[in-house]
Amino acid sequence: MKESMRLDKYLADMGVGTRSEVKGLIKKGKIQVNGTIANDYSRKIIVGTDVIMYAGEEITYLEYEYFMLNKPAGVLSATEDKHAKTVLDLLTTSKRKDLFPVGRLDKDTEGLLLITNDGALSHALLSPKKHVDKMYYAKVEGMVTEQDVEAFAEGLQMDEEWRAMPAKLKILVQDTISEITLVIQEGKFHQVKRMFEVVGKKVIFLKRLSMGPLQLDEKLMPGEYRKLTEEELQKLKESHS
Ligand code: URA
Repeated sequence: MKESMRLDKYLADMGVGTRSEVKGLIKKGKIQVNGTIANDYSRKIIVGTDVIMYAGEEITYLEYEYFMLNKPAGVLSATEDKHAKTVLDLLTTSKRKDLFPVGRLDKDTEGLLLITNDGALSHALLSPKKHVDKMYYAKVEGMVTEQDVEAFAEGLQMDEEWRAMPAKLKILVQDTISEITLVIQEGKFHQVKRMFEVVGKKVIFLKRLSMGPLQLDEKLMPGEYRKLTEEELQKLKESHS
C-alpha cells in the first residue's frame, strides 16, 4: 500500500517552509493537489500518486536524500550553531529540516562528508563494529618514516586503555613537511591528529578522501556539494549489508 500523510507534513518535509508557514500557504490557496486548490492542510496525500504543485513547480516527495560535500576548513560538522557556520548552512538547495552530517570532521579538516536524513545508513557507516575504511590525506610537520608506517600497521598504543586498530600509512612525500595518506577503520575524536602526536609529529593539513566505497569527487571545490549518484548510493548500501 502507498504511504499517505498530511499535506502540511508533506510540504514541510520537502522544505517548502516550516509547518506553520506551509499552513499559511495552504490557507492562502497557493497549493494545488491534482490540479485543484487545496485549502485543508490536514488533508491526506497519497505519496507518489497525488500531484502537489506550488509556485508552478511539482513538489515530489523524496523520503531520503544523500549529498556529498567537500567540507571546507572553518565550518562546523553540526546541524546548527549559534555562532559558527555549519555544513548544513552550505546546503542551500535543500531546505528540509531532517538532514545531518554522517559523523564529524574537525572544524579545520576538509573533504568528504556525507549529508543525509537516512539514519539507518548513517548508523551502519559509523558503527565501530563495521570497520568502515576512511582514507585521509595529510601534511605532517616532521619526517614521516618507515618506522611510523610499521608502528601504524601494528596498531599504535594511544593511551593506557586504547590501542588503535592497525592503520595503513603511505608516505607520498618524505621531508621536513611530509605528505601521507592514512586509512583507518575507527573514527575517534581527533583520531588522525592524535595518532601522529603519538609518534611525535603534527598534522598541519587534513582532508578526508573516502569513506567505505564513497570517494570524494575531485571536481567539487571546498564548499561545493552534489547529490550522490544512484551507483554511489547502491555501493554504499551494499557495503554494509
Ligand atoms: N581525524 C582527525 O584528527 N580529525 C578529523 O577531522 C578526522 C579524523
